Amino acid sequence: MNTFQHQFNYTSLTFQELVEPTKQLVKFAEEALAKSYAPYSNFHVGCAVQLQDGTFLTGANHENAAYPAGICAERAALASLDMSQQNFVVAIAITFKQDASLTLNPITPCGICRQSIKEVQDWQEKPIIIYMCNPLGNIIRVDDANHLLPFSFGKNDLKTPASILK
Ligand code: THU
Repeated sequence: MNTFQHQFNYTSLTFQELVEPTKQLVKFAEEALAKSYAPYSNFHVGCAVQLQDGTFLTGANHENAAYPAGICAERAALASLDMSQQNFVVAIAITFKQDASLTLNPITPCGICRQSIKEVQDWQEKPIIIYMCNPLGNIIRVDDANHLLPFSFGKNDLKTPASILK
């Protein structure tokens, strides 16, 4: 049996410690909470995407009575990225609001969203910084989408020589 040790760096921050344009990025994620449609989970998620040209995209979770048809905030935001342009994603911020505020941990993207963020990162071949926030201003930053998705499936992974094979 082999062990794959997945190590990655993260930084714990507070909102006050951020500098522009990251403060603005987090504020846009908070503002996006207003368009969250989450009548089934009551868990509202907002996401903002910072692009290299200085513009931002936002999205919120959008649920459905047929639960699996719902979409997360991250994918709602990324779906409006114009991939016919070379305007790449610098950073993503995610935050949440829960009607019964039980959770204080910063929100971490679900598995499907990690895969979607990685798709954009693989396409642009530049790392995406991810800011995971809570409503109190605690933030965790990781500097590469791959840090959140070990042993992943993606177009660049398929190209990597498989040194793990027997
Ligand atoms: N959700 C997101 O929007 N992003 C995540 O990364 C985690 C989960 C949404 C999906 C669903 O509408 C609600 O949060 C509860 O799972």
